[in-house]
This record gives sequence, C-alpha cells and structure tokens, in this order.
Amino acid sequence: MKLVKPVAADRLSALLRQMPKAELHIHIEGSLEPELIFALAKRNAVQLPYASVDALRSAYAFTNLQSFLDIYYAGASVLITEQDFYDMAMAYFARAAEDNVIHAELFFDPQTHTARGVSMETVINGLHRACVDAQAELGVSASLILCFLRHLSEEEAFETLEQALPYRDKLIGIGLDSGEVGNPPEKFARVFARCRELGFHLVAHAGEEGPPAYVWTALDVLKVERIDHGVQSSKDALLMQRLAKDRIALTVCPLSNLKLCVFPDLASHNLRQLLEAGLAATVNSDDPAYFGGYLNENFTQTFAATQLNAGHAYTLARNSFEASFIGASAKKRHIDRLNAYFENFC
Ligand code: ADE
Ligand code: ZN
Repeated sequence: MKLVKPVAADRLSALLRQMPKAELHIHIEGSLEPELIFALAKRNAVQLPYASVDALRSAYAFTNLQSFLDIYYAGASVLITEQDFYDMAMAYFARAAEDNVIHAELFFDPQTHTARGVSMETVINGLHRACVDAQAELGVSASLILCFLRHLSEEEAFETLEQALPYRDKLIGIGLDSGEVGNPPEKFARVFARCRELGFHLVAHAGEEGPPAYVWTALDVLKVERIDHGVQSSKDALLMQRLAKDRIALTVCPLSNLKLCVFPDLASHNLRQLLEAGLAATVNSDDPAYFGGYLNENFTQTFAATQLNAGHAYTLARNSFEASFIGASAKKRHIDRLNAYFENFC
C-alpha cells in the first residue's frame, strides 16, 4: 500500500479533480443532457412530452430507481441514427476528459433502441466510432459493455446477444441493468453462462436497491467480475468478507444513490465503510446528466460530506485502474502515472 502524505483540506478538491482516474460505471444514455435531447429531437422530428429544456430538467425529481428509469428511457427515444449515438458518446468523452478521466468503460442498453426499430449495427457502430475518436482526439481510452435489461426476459436477452455477435470485437463485456427488485441475477443464468463461454467480461448491477442475496447470486450464479453499485452489501457481514477476500470491485455511484433515495443524504453514504472493510470500491457517475454531476462532482461532494482524505483518493483512483478491463501493460502505465501524480502533488 502506498503511503500518501496528508493534503490540506483546501487542496483536496484540486487533487481529486486533477488526479488521473478511470470511470467504470457510466450508462451512455444517462449522459444525454436535456439540451442534447432537445437538439436530437429536433434533428429527428421526435415529439417530446416536455415543452422545454427547463420543463424536462424540472421533471428530474426521483423517488426511487423506477421513477428515474421511466424518464431515462423516454429521453433515449431521440436516438435514431449512428451519428446520434456518436454525438452522445463524444459529448460524454469531452466532459470526462475535463475531469481527467483517462479510461472509460461505457454501458449501453441496446434493447431500448432495437425495440424502437433502431438496428444493433447503428447503435454499436456509432458508439464504437466515438471510442476510437476519443482515444485519437482526447487521449481517453474507452470500451463498450452491452447491458441486458433485467425487466425483460432471458429469451429476449438471448436474442439481443445473437444480434450483437457480428460486432463482438467492438465489445469488451456484458452487463445487467434496469429495475432490480423482482429481477434477480439468476433469471439470466443461462445467457450469462453463454456470454462467459464466448469470452466476454461479465458485470451486473446488484445491491443498488435489491438485497445482498442478489450480490451473492451475481457472484456465484452469473460469475461476474465486478458488482455495479453493491452498496447494500454492507447489510451482510459474510458478503463483505467475501467481496474483500476476492477483491471484487464495486462500482459505487454516490450522487446516483443520493438522487434515487438509496441514502437520505451524502453524509450517510457507506463508501468509507466499504473502503475501511478492505473492499475494492470505485467512484463513478452512473447517469450524470440526470443525477447532478459527472465524475469529479461525485468525488468532491462525497469527500466533503464524509470527510475522506488524500489516502482514500489514491485508493479509489488506483482501484479504478486495477478493476478495469484494460490489458496489463496499459494498467501498469496508468498506475505509474497515478503514482507520479501523487508524488508531485503531496
Ligand atoms: N440504467 C441506467 N441507470 C441505471 C441504474 N442506476 N440502475 C439500474 N439500471 C440503470
Ligand atoms: Zn448503473
């Protein structure tokens, strides 16, 4: 473990903002800002049930995950052409680069689009072209994780996998998202087994609103390598030991948890508890256009509310690289860069 020298409170925010980091939990459709939603609606002649950008933004008052998902899927309805997917992802990469994100793994929800008649080819080609350009133009490396919608059936997930297989070299992994409670990971046991045989990295949302039992089955039935959210794990001491022992990363999203009422306020968030129990937690933005902040806002607001320090910052950034699906040499390069940054700053 690296020894990190203390940093005065007034410099901590700068340290958090400037440190190199990876983002491992971002739904690209959740980066659609209201202004871009309206611009794409105009470009594609899509009718929106909101009169203005301000009216849309004022609807962002969520009480739980489902109340958010209803608006999030409506927002994604403006995405029609390959260029739309490209523009959405490039807008995110430009914003992420400002936060010193040097590597990002993007979730996308193809079933939201194929159900509207948009082809898998359109979705993946637009997003993939943006990943290539993000590296060339912004120095941000990026890869794509296809998520199955868990409120739909396993059969529909299998159909989605079939449609995606011609583009498998443009995908790094498979995930599971959407309404969690009542849709446990084991509902997707067979399709995840197939994805595993195909050589994909596997992740799943679990323990966001759902019980620790869902984290157990994500690990033991789906055999995922990372848990997305996982904050409910702290209710199960045995699960906490398992996550720590196996160095299973949790992609925690504090502002999302706040906006979806998983915690009553940021001061009550359990990120510190997860870190102090030795879990490989990371900080991420989830759906930043909807939850009031991109990655650096997640870091700075959570650190301020829970009195985390420079040592925690280093651990979180390091965890983000360690838990990423980049190759060993890129991982080492990023961690060397992080170490050099801390040597110079502290
Ligand atoms: N899809 C987009 N954001 C999500 C979240 N926070 N949980 C589950 N599914 C999602
Ligand atoms: Zn998520």
